[in-house]
Amino acid sequence: MRELKGLILSGGRGTRLRPITHTSAKQLVPVANKPVLFYGIEAMAAAGIEEVGIIVAPETGDEIRAAADDGSQFGVRITYIEQDAPLGLAHAVLTAEPFLGESPFVMYLGDNLLQGGITELVAAFRNHEPDALILLTAVPDPENYGVAELRDGAVVRLVEKPGEPQTDLALVGVYMFTPVVHDAARAISPSDRGELEITDAIQHLVDGGRRVEPHIVKGWWKDTGRLEDILEANRLVLDTIQSRVDGELVDAQIGGRVVIEPGARLERSSVRGPAVVGAGARLVDAYIGPYTAVGPRCVIENAEVENSILLEGASVRGLAGRMESSLLGRNVTVGRDHRQPRAYRFMVGDNSEIGIL
Ligand code: DAU
Repeated sequence: MRELKGLILSGGRGTRLRPITHTSAKQLVPVANKPVLFYGIEAMAAAGIEEVGIIVAPETGDEIRAAADDGSQFGVRITYIEQDAPLGLAHAVLTAEPFLGESPFVMYLGDNLLQGGITELVAAFRNHEPDALILLTAVPDPENYGVAELRDGAVVRLVEKPGEPQTDLALVGVYMFTPVVHDAARAISPSDRGELEITDAIQHLVDGGRRVEPHIVKGWWKDTGRLEDILEANRLVLDTIQSRVDGELVDAQIGGRVVIEPGARLERSSVRGPAVVGAGARLVDAYIGPYTAVGPRCVIENAEVENSILLEGASVRGLAGRMESSLLGRNVTVGRDHRQPRAYRFMVGDNSEIGIL
């Protein structure tokens, strides 16, 4: 088999994570203070893939290029491929055809996280040489995914987001293909949502007698497209971090798995892990509870924060209650307005969500 290339899909719209995705790509939302996209690139590097193409949208391409750069920080070479419009995963494959050429490839959805990485799967793909390899996992809400039906261990039917799923086996956002997928992507028509579905392209391979090998994933898998999924991914990754304290503690306590990055300063504060506190963050008279990722240069003062993600530069000050299960965008400020102690005062963007207990 020729050298495998990597293709990461980092275009699309990100409608379910607005307002964060009004100004930023959803694949750059951090999980344990690292952009989701980076986990996919690292998984490819770990599996020995050297050439990685990243599909980007015109609106978010620059930001993604600035973050991942030429790939040398991961030990891969990155080529950026612009997709004019989010016309579907199979359309993204066709857009990448000049980059992929005749190479077999691993396709990784840029908003997906797969605990076990892809090294074993790449080995299975190389050894068994199927036309395509797909990953499946049982989920409680299959109607939100591509759904597979198997018979005697073989794939018989794949349906994208079916109204009445026949099984609970969801297609995980990591696929392996030989170049036959390009003709399959050309052969299909857009779905009801107007996209060229990779699910339909794989069904086309099955119908044409091609060998599509299913694998059930062993570890956890997360599609981080929604707030609750991002928070869960954050919890799952924070559960695996190695404690490290490089910042400054002044009359501060930490317990459990905790990373304090260089330049962070904790005064009269306590952090109960698993948690990460980013570079240059400042915590004063604060409590950080489990499963919190505090981004670089955030400020938390006279406040308690738990099970939340704060992007770079966000601040939380003087809250009477604990802030929980929240995602704050870059430079967002949350605090009490002391001029009007009995009133709430907000400046919030379109489609924001605020919950007051
Ligand atoms: O997460 C797994 C699911 O991903 C599968 O079970 C489904 O079968 C598959 O269709 C896909 O469903 P989603 O509706 O969740 O896909 P989404 O639109 O979120 O796009 C996935 C990634 O691909 C995301 O990082 C954006 C990117 N993308 C998407 C489209 C439609 C592109 O780069 N170009 C596109 O045209």
